[in-house]
Amino acid sequence: MSQRLLRRYEDGERMNHWFIALMFVLAGLSGLAFFHPSLFFLSHLFGGGSWARILHPFLGLLMVLAFLILFARLWRDNLVTAADREWKKHAGRMLRGDKAGMPPAGKYNYAQKMVFWAMAVSLLVLLVTGIMFWRPWFAPYFSIGMMRVAVLLHSVAAVVLVAATIMHVYAAIWVKGTVRAMSRGTVTESWARANHPLWHQEVTKGR
Ligand code: HEM
Repeated sequence: MSQRLLRRYEDGERMNHWFIALMFVLAGLSGLAFFHPSLFFLSHLFGGGSWARILHPFLGLLMVLAFLILFARLWRDNLVTAADREWKKHAGRMLRGDKAGMPPAGKYNYAQKMVFWAMAVSLLVLLVTGIMFWRPWFAPYFSIGMMRVAVLLHSVAAVVLVAATIMHVYAAIWVKGTVRAMSRGTVTESWARANHPLWHQEVTKGR
């Protein structure tokens, strides 16, 4: 097995990613504190109810801003191609563990791309709706009816983001050798060949 390493992420991209992950956990825990009274105890992690309420929108905003930077770098790599549509047709095989029978994927496979767009859309909805009921700054510009709808959509988007992130982390751990892409920035050549053969061809051509 070849142990030659290929660069998958730059240092800045990795720092950006882990900052997003940290903000996701902090914004998520402070948000859950307001989701249901039985979860209010989580507010103690942030210094009590008032502090959790003050910090939550800022933590969310930092997550969105950091994601925007990653989005600007990666959105092109996440556009769905003809090869992805072929991959999608055989996705059941992948779930059964038959990786060898899968059509070749590029830098990201179809499932990763769907998770990327689910993250992007849910973060956009969280941002827009969150601003709509952010007291005292922006809430006065919206009617109570609009704010109610915004609160509902905010919760739905949060559930989508959490579900997408659970799938994302599960896949990162399930496909051996993936976590190092974000922890060290490199992957082994055999990982690239097995999981993202079109990307492997692209980054090794001319060698
Ligand atoms: C502990 C939590 C997390 C772990 C272990 C993790 C792990 C990883 C790994 C290993 C990759 C590289 C995958 C590859 O190159 O094939 C990656 C990429 C990525 N991660 Fe995470 N991640 C976590 C949390 C998050 C969160 C909370 C977000 C956003 C809300 C996020 C957004 C992304 C994005 C956008 C990419 C690039 C993939 C793409 O563009 O399709 N991650 N992550």
